[in-house]
Amino acid sequence: MRIEIPRDFERIGALQIFGLQKVYELDSGPGRRERDSMIERLPSDTLYDIMREMAIVVPVKEERLKLIEGVLVGIPSPCQVILVSNSARSPIDRFHMEQETMENFSRFTDKKVLVVHQKDPTLARAFAEAGYSEILDDDGLVRSGKAEGMIMGTLMAKWLGKKYLGFVDSDNYLPGAVHEYVKEYAAGFAMNPGAKTFVRISWHSKPKIVESNLFFAKWGRSSVHSNHILNRLLTNITGFETEIVKTGNAGEHALTLDLALTLEYAAGYAVETHHFINLLQEYGGIDRPPRNLRPGERVTLCQIESRNPHMHASKGDDHVEDMIDASLSVIYHSRLCPASLKAEIMANIRMRRGDNAPAEPFPMRIYPALSQIDLPTFFERWQAGFRRHSPVVGSS
Ligand code: GDD
Ligand code: MG
Repeated sequence: MRIEIPRDFERIGALQIFGLQKVYELDSGPGRRERDSMIERLPSDTLYDIMREMAIVVPVKEERLKLIEGVLVGIPSPCQVILVSNSARSPIDRFHMEQETMENFSRFTDKKVLVVHQKDPTLARAFAEAGYSEILDDDGLVRSGKAEGMIMGTLMAKWLGKKYLGFVDSDNYLPGAVHEYVKEYAAGFAMNPGAKTFVRISWHSKPKIVESNLFFAKWGRSSVHSNHILNRLLTNITGFETEIVKTGNAGEHALTLDLALTLEYAAGYAVETHHFINLLQEYGGIDRPPRNLRPGERVTLCQIESRNPHMHASKGDDHVEDMIDASLSVIYHSRLCPASLKAEIMANIRMRRGDNAPAEPFPMRIYPALSQIDLPTFFERWQAGFRRHSPVVGSS
């Protein structure tokens, strides 16, 4: 891959946020790593070495099997796939259909795929006994939600001994785009080899039909709002106006396991925006010194602009509005948010919601960092049940 060296950055305490990086060549072949003042050439072997230590978590809820299969087609073979499903078990057992699809798929490709169900009682028991019952609902099972599935995926990646963790939605129509995202995750880790690195993707475009023609929109509907408000927060912290944040709620992102275990997860679709906020809270040194850092250690967040258009299943206007509210809510309720920014957030909500705007955004549930889990207990309980159900396909 040939990729731009970031030109801008913001430094807030131990957190370094790089500006958006363009990709100039998706595959620049094997050979030597080269770099001039503008561009770095990352040989394919460098990227594949990183992918061998990477798990890709694919959250699934009631997606079409053809779509899920397409996503798997796009994930490069060295990666371990972890599919976390919250699809229905009755009246039709969709999860069983997903398992069968994965089984067939991994037979043809020799791919490493671990399939788990979000409502697996073994996992729920493991969470309870390891001291993380916040994630359980009134029935004692893991709550529904994308973030809750991501938490499970993160722990599975740790259990499998992976160093890097990436997320790819299962409703992506373009296997080529998925393939590109994973390569870009690897590129981000290659360029930022520290133990605490976050890589976030900003799509180049999102195709829509406008007046019977294809129109390539630059920004997703929710990212416009979350990026703007996150940039306003940074401006407030540093005193210098900035537009560095382009990936406020990027569903396509990857991070080192080391970093993932130190971050809180917000429920549902607030998860990505809250990760940004939590990075500032934990590592920005704004209202307390950074914790969880080795001497001299830095946390790096890099943002890469992908080249493939992003096409995923459309889930309706209400869903997008709810997602924007969830994103803005975690910024509003952050202890870093000043009164002036709270007023801006409320103006945004009133503009979109009109008379239905609440007096304050509804606070999202925030799950503590996974470093607080008793990991040996969690893995021991999970493994005991896991042997019984063996919900694994071709795991490494
Ligand atoms: N395991 C699990 N559990 N997966 C879920 C659940 C759940 O309860 N709910 C949704 N998913 C899966 C979906 O099947 C899909 O693969 C993925 O999570 C994202 O859900 P979508 O409903 O398709 O979200 P979106 O496309 O509107 O939003 C995406 O992009 C946003 C940025 O624009 C998500 O990735 C958001 O998190 C992201 O902020
Ligand atoms: Mg989607």
